[in-house]
Amino acid sequence: MHKDLQEVLISEDKLQARIKQLGLEISSSYKGRCLTLVGVLKGCVLFLSDLLKNISIDTNVDFIMLSSYSGKQSTGVVRTILDLKQNIEGRDVLIVEDIVDSGLTMSYMLKNMTTRGPRSLEICTMLDKPSCRRVKVPIKYSGFVIPNKFVVGYGLDYNELYRNLPYIGVLKKSVIKVD
Ligand code: IMP
Ligand code: MG
Repeated sequence: MHKDLQEVLISEDKLQARIKQLGLEISSSYKGRCLTLVGVLKGCVLFLSDLLKNISIDTNVDFIMLSSYSGKQSTGVVRTILDLKQNIEGRDVLIVEDIVDSGLTMSYMLKNMTTRGPRSLEICTMLDKPSCRRVKVPIKYSGFVIPNKFVVGYGLDYNELYRNLPYIGVLKKSVIKVD
């Protein structure tokens, strides 16, 4: 375990097993269609790439980068920093996110993507932290429901660190800077 963590919340084995199941579920739901995964950078990268390997139907991938967080606190204001390259009109779009916390990011995403006229639009998140929800968002596929703890690893960062850990862990209080 990384020295800055107090515990491993979800092991690498558990993550991979759950992602395999999600891949099967998604492949069967969208059978006979072509799926467009929209990954929300940067947190989605590890989850999206492992999920993609477990999807057996035709799939294309695009990315969007948003900002709303700096450090540990959400500012509540979401902006698009990097937009999709593809036109998603008439496509079956599945948003791939690392974690749904307040729900503000996903709520912005749903509104933003809807204006582009996709055939269908759903959310797939690796982690769901329902205790922190400020706006309700419909999550179709969720890897794990987690308690109200600040987690890092497997794409998730704290000040741009720890994304490379192959598991999800909880940071030690002493590592988190209060500002
Ligand atoms: P929301 O808009 O509050 O739902 O937050 C969504 C974004 O905040 C996620 O995509 C993450 O990038 C970030 N975030 C929320 N909770 C955590 C956490 O526990 N660890 C790391 N990043 C988080
Ligand atoms: Mg994110």
